[in-house]
Amino acid sequence: MTEILVLAGSARRDSFNRRLARCALDWLQEHTSATCTEVDLAKFEMPLYDADLEASRGIPETVVRLAELFARADGVVLACPEYNASITPLLKNTIDWLSRVKRDDGSFVAFAGKSAALMSASPGGLGGLRGLVHVTQILSALQVVVLPQQLAVARAHEAFDADGRLVDPGTRERLDAVLGAFMKLVTAIRHLS
Ligand SMILES: Cc1cc2nc3c(=O)[nH]c(=O)nc-3n(C[C@H](O)[C@H](O)[C@H](O)COP(=O)(O)O)c2cc1C
Repeated sequence: MTEILVLAGSARRDSFNRRLARCALDWLQEHTSATCTEVDLAKFEMPLYDADLEASRGIPETVVRLAELFARADGVVLACPEYNASITPLLKNTIDWLSRVKRDDGSFVAFAGKSAALMSASPGGLGGLRGLVHVTQILSALQVVVLPQQLAVARAHEAFDADGRLVDPGTRERLDAVLGAFMKLVTAIRHLS
């Protein structure tokens, strides 16, 4: 059974990226038989990474729990807000902590052999697209295969209806194309490993 994690790189209550992640989750549940798990980073509080803290107290229990969820999954759909043309501190800190959880052979428990689909939503005109360049680079360094097709939702404050659905048919089509390609990638990577 294929397992997919869906998460937003924002813990903000009314986060646009949380809404976009939910649209991706709805799509996956409607169009695939994958087991999908929505991860709310607000429920995985962790301190700012500090090597001294890790040395004295070890890896926090929330990090270990999240790493276990990642380890079980074949792929991850990430909706990433853009801060100053880059990744949010919340998402970077989460990835940094997760990268500290390793197997005996040094491989990354949370990331090795995984596929990722990236999307973003922003009130701005570029939809957070520039931040995805950095997220792609970071995840690639952690041995994640990142889908080249991505979705950036511009003018996010106008992009969702009251039920959280994407208003624009073109954006819905793009979501469809990205997630369709993602599920093919996940299947191909599963056959490789
Ligand atoms: C520190 C900071 C930097 C930001 N930089 C950008 C930016 O470079 N590009 C952009 O499109 N939006 C930027 N924004 C606006 C965010 O896209 C906006 O706050 C968005 O709602 C955050 O995502 P969320 O709704 O999922 O929390 C920035 C916001 C903050 C707080």
